Amino acid sequence: MKKETKEGQANTSIRPYTTADYREVRTTLENVGLFYEPMDNEALLAEQISSDPGSILVAEVDGQVVGNVLLKATGWGPLLFRLAVRNEFQGRGIGTRLMEAAEQELASRGRPEIHLLVEDGETGLLAFYESLGYEVGHTYKWMWKSLVPKSSE
Ligand SMILES: CC(C)(COP(=O)(O)OP(=O)(O)OC[C@H]1O[C@@H](n2cnc3c(N)ncnc32)[C@H](O)[C@@H]1OP(=O)(O)O)[C@@H](O)C(=O)NCCC(=O)NCCS
Repeated sequence: MKKETKEGQANTSIRPYTTADYREVRTTLENVGLFYEPMDNEALLAEQISSDPGSILVAEVDGQVVGNVLLKATGWGPLLFRLAVRNEFQGRGIGTRLMEAAEQELASRGRPEIHLLVEDGETGLLAFYESLGYEVGHTYKWMWKSLVPKSSE
């Protein structure tokens, strides 16, 4: 059964994101509960591929964009974000293909490492990344602050 579903990846291609893909990428992120407007808006993704072409990859199945991953270059080390595959396309190896493509992209740029964040308690996800060779590092607390002044009502 598992073998059959993994074979479903034959008609999957991984390619760089173009601005025409935004609607489908947004739909995927919303589908898996990862969409966050301040970070995933159309203008920011356009800016990212303009300044860093090839840093957003999408998975296409029969002409439909059903998965994506973002690479954020930082002065410190590349971070991988927003790995997502639409629910109905999960379990066919598409997530693994996206991860492999992201790693190849960074390796081709001469980057020696890749880093990603996994939310506390996401043991299934942790196991997925470990199966791809990722090691667990230190545990941190994510902190954030809004830079938009709160409107007084
Ligand atoms: C993580 C994700 C991209 C994997 O995509 P995919 O196309 O299903 O990946 P693959 O088919 O290559 O491999 C999936 C394998 O990982 C396992 N897996 C992945 N995420 C898992 C999770 N959260 N819990 C349990 N198992 C998980 C699957 O069971 C499967 O195992 P198998 O190979 O033994 O069958 C997809 O599950 C997803 O979009 N999840 C929601 C978004 C998310 O959490 N993204 C990560 C943000 S850090």
